[in-house]
Amino acid sequence: MAEMISAQGADQPYRPNEAAGTAGGSASLAWTVRSEAPDGSEITAVRRVINAAFPTANEADLVEALRQDRDAWLPGLSVVATAPDGEVVGHALLTRCHVDGSPALALAPVAVLPAWQRHGVGTAMIHALLDAAQAADEQLVLVLGHPAYYPRFGFVPASGYGIKPPFEVPDEAMLALALDPGRPVPAGSIRYAPAFGD
Ligand SMILES: CC(C)(COP(=O)(O)OP(=O)(O)OC[C@H]1O[C@@H](n2cnc3c(N)ncnc32)[C@H](O)[C@@H]1OP(=O)(O)O)[C@@H](O)C(=O)NCCC(=O)NCCS
Repeated sequence: MAEMISAQGADQPYRPNEAAGTAGGSASLAWTVRSEAPDGSEITAVRRVINAAFPTANEADLVEALRQDRDAWLPGLSVVATAPDGEVVGHALLTRCHVDGSPALALAPVAVLPAWQRHGVGTAMIHALLDAAQAADEQLVLVLGHPAYYPRFGFVPASGYGIKPPFEVPDEAMLALALDPGRPVPAGSIRYAPAFGD
């Protein structure tokens, strides 16, 4: 679906197809954002990043389950951030979900190795994914996440669009981003891929 993604470091705005950059002027914190290798060769490295970023293996298991779900997994929309030596230091992905009958995208999980957190890697990966989604003519991205983090990307409470999560969550944590303000946003109940559970 989406083309190969590539992006540069956080101090500059994301521009497609550009070389890696550095954060804060430190060469040790240079990274590149690109689509995960399509041949599966980075699955272990991705799992390592997710397990390091989260306290349990739940999120890594979720990504593996999504990988097996041909309806949910969208080739090209699983991205990694790599260090200059090729080490995978971040991972994020968009998978297919629906709002009632309309297709949408779920952003989850987003993970950065602890040593690399708060240097713009997460921001760069999310911008890359949102740009790729927009280029693929997608309209709606949903995220269940920290209300202090995601609004910077334009996310607003999903309830404002009449979008309801399938479980009890604080209103300010269920967020939505309409990629094209000129197009209608579907209202209704979110139906996640089965890997997310009931
Ligand atoms: C959340 C996460 C993906 C952000 O990536 P990152 O590369 O560290 O973030 P960036 O450097 O791009 O952005 C830094 C900003 O994010 C904020 N931020 C980072 N983690 C945050 C969190 N858990 N809640 C709220 N804000 C957070 C920082 O305060 C900082 O804000 P500022 O720019 O106003 O100072 C990363 O910290 C991570 O992997 N955390 C553990 C896993 C997790 O909680 N994932 C998100 C839920 S799916």
